[in-house]
Amino acid sequence: MKIDPALVQLPAENGPAEVGPCASRTRMTILLAPMEGLLDFVLRDILTRVGGVDRCVSEFIRVTNTLLPDHVFTRVVPELLNGGCTFAGVPVRPQLLGSDPVCLAENAGRLAVLRPPGIDLNFGCPARTVNRHGGGAALLDQPELLLAICAAVRRAVPIDMPVSAKMRLGVHDDSRALECALAIESGGASELVVHARTKADAYRPPAYWERIADIRAVVRIPVVANGEIWNVQDALRCRAVSGSDSLMLGRGMVTDPGLALAIQAAMASPDANPASGVGAQPGSTERASPALCPVINWATLLPFINDFWRLVGTRLERRQQAGRLKQWLNFLRRHHPEAELAYGVLRTLSEPAAIDQWLALAAFNALQNQAPETVWLTNAIHPGEPPSKPRQGLL
Ligand SMILES: Cc1cc2nc3c(=O)[nH]c(=O)nc-3n(C[C@H](O)[C@H](O)[C@H](O)COP(=O)(O)O)c2cc1C
Repeated sequence: MKIDPALVQLPAENGPAEVGPCASRTRMTILLAPMEGLLDFVLRDILTRVGGVDRCVSEFIRVTNTLLPDHVFTRVVPELLNGGCTFAGVPVRPQLLGSDPVCLAENAGRLAVLRPPGIDLNFGCPARTVNRHGGGAALLDQPELLLAICAAVRRAVPIDMPVSAKMRLGVHDDSRALECALAIESGGASELVVHARTKADAYRPPAYWERIADIRAVVRIPVVANGEIWNVQDALRCRAVSGSDSLMLGRGMVTDPGLALAIQAAMASPDANPASGVGAQPGSTERASPALCPVINWATLLPFINDFWRLVGTRLERRQQAGRLKQWLNFLRRHHPEAELAYGVLRTLSEPAAIDQWLALAAFNALQNQAPETVWLTNAIHPGEPPSKPRQGLL
């Protein structure tokens, strides 16, 4: 199922307003962030089906001193076997991480044969093991190496294949941020994502969106703003502060899969004031105003959660399956109260069959419009039949 933003119904208390393409004033370009260990092929598939996302970057593929075989690229980015797109048709750029220009270029050349819709370079990973080998954020202390890497990769892949990069603001401080951005541009990257924090900042709020504006002022390539966009207000504020019409969403989108659609709807809404960021407070978990919010509620989300669970079952070993669902629910509960309840129940379960049953009942109860606390686990569910009267004993 893919939800068309044009068909998104705004909440009833705000009248019959419906967001359609004709109402659109400005559209943001929204990228789904690379997130190693969290946002893999399965979750990319689900989140891009919900909608609002224009492009994805894969989790990083580590390049050392060997030429990687095709199956390594297609294991991380199975979309390469689907024309480089998710099943919803959203392009995915594989991301390479390394520090040696020659190795990166040779592997990029090999990857290019699989015709990805672009190649992204990681200049932001803060992991100690990665940085010890000179990769990721460690490169932000060596702008000349950034330039050499971008230039080598650019030369190694066909001219019509975009090469982009993702950087943080620096290692310990942001004093070389502009120098790094200029080096990446000089090396031939055609787009730059800026995660507006240093490596030392790790993931601590805030993100310094104003520094993205400084970078935009010195480079000519498009700059995508990233970091701490959790809701529509954050997105509009980030756009206002950074001046960028392109945003990359990471944890916010995992937490609220309707976020990209909500941002696009807000941009199209006559109630929105994208230039001012509707006066939102940084880090607020509230959405802008009911008039700006399309409804991607728990009932809408449950079929996607079910699909996620089915896909996880086909892709992962049995012992890893329950953990993946719990990992996503752990993010979802930040935005959906029902996910809190689901998490409380499911964290006690590890058998896939028990999780199947619970999800079937959750879906049934959502259809019946029952309150989430009336979701029960029964011993036997007969396919096609409604569950029997719940036993006493809420899980
Ligand atoms: C679990 C996790 C894994 C990540 N993996 C990658 C990665 O593989 N490549 C990369 O460039 N950034 C990675 N990041 C950084 C995110 O892409 C993004 O820049 C960061 O989370 C800030 O955006 P957000 O506040 O919207 O989440 C990762 C972040 C997290 C939390």
